[in-house]
Amino acid sequence: MPPIHAIKRFLQAGEHSAPSALRIRTLSRRYSGRLALENVDLDVQDHESFGLVGENGAGKTTLIKCALDLCLPSAGTIDIYGRSAGNPEARRALAYHPERFVPPHYLLGREFLETTAAVCGDPYQPRTVEHLLGELDLDPGSLSRPVRQYSKGMMQKIGLVACFMLDRQMYVLDEPMSGLDPGSRVAVKSILKRLNDSGRTIFFTSHVLADVEEICSGIAIVHRGRIRFRGSPEELRNVHGEANLERAFLKCIRSEEQSSQFPDDEKPRP
Ligand SMILES: Nc1ncnc2c1ncn2[C@@H]1O[C@H](COP(=O)(O)OP(=O)(O)OP(=O)(O)O)[C@@H](O)[C@H]1O
Ligand SMILES: [Mg+2]
Repeated sequence: MPPIHAIKRFLQAGEHSAPSALRIRTLSRRYSGRLALENVDLDVQDHESFGLVGENGAGKTTLIKCALDLCLPSAGTIDIYGRSAGNPEARRALAYHPERFVPPHYLLGREFLETTAAVCGDPYQPRTVEHLLGELDLDPGSLSRPVRQYSKGMMQKIGLVACFMLDRQMYVLDEPMSGLDPGSRVAVKSILKRLNDSGRTIFFTSHVLADVEEICSGIAIVHRGRIRFRGSPEELRNVHGEANLERAFLKCIRSEEQSSQFPDDEKPRP
């Protein structure tokens, strides 16, 4: 039998050989001189179901936009599965649903989905779409209507269908449950769980910590542009001696506010 230190070395070598789904180092982003993100280090592992939480204006969307090359970092690096996020090939591993999703108003629902598949280089799969429409309770007849006639929730749903119909290793969703009715929220959560069970990485943001706790094995709290906590929901509760995740979250950001290292004029503000 090989000695224990040899086994450990083998396992550690394995850890290093598998790149993180997302690896962020010393990421900063300024808007007109104001810091929105400061010195962020964050790893999301492959197969992880990860939730990024924080108050309004904390920097969640900015972090996602930097990772998707939709906004340029002021400093730092981001790798997706070991390749720079600036490389379009690296981003092929991702499907993304943005925070404020509005499809092009002049398209029919079906045209929007077909165009998305074509632009993303995937074949259009009517059966997958039909299945997702059923899960999200979006009438298949709505695909023959222009998206400008959709309600807010319907627009969110067709955006989610467009994201979930793509076969990708990681799904990045910025507040995917926002604006959805209770049945559809449950449906989105079960789709996210199913994707994660099939080995996909989930990265999403939400203000509903009960949803985060239900879906995520790992979370991070971003507050005023800095990562204040990274671990499991259970660890966050334990660290702050709270049975309730929302209370633990509030304790985390409030304790950090009291001991903040920011000089006042450096604090990112909403
Ligand atoms: N295009 C922009 N120009 C200037 N400032 C911006 C821009 N986008 C974001 N900011 C600022 O960056 C900070 C972080 O914003 P961001 O949208 O990342 O927050 P968030 O955590 O996603 O908030 P929310 O929960 O409200 O979506 C805020 O202070 C915001 O005002
Ligand atoms: Mg946001």
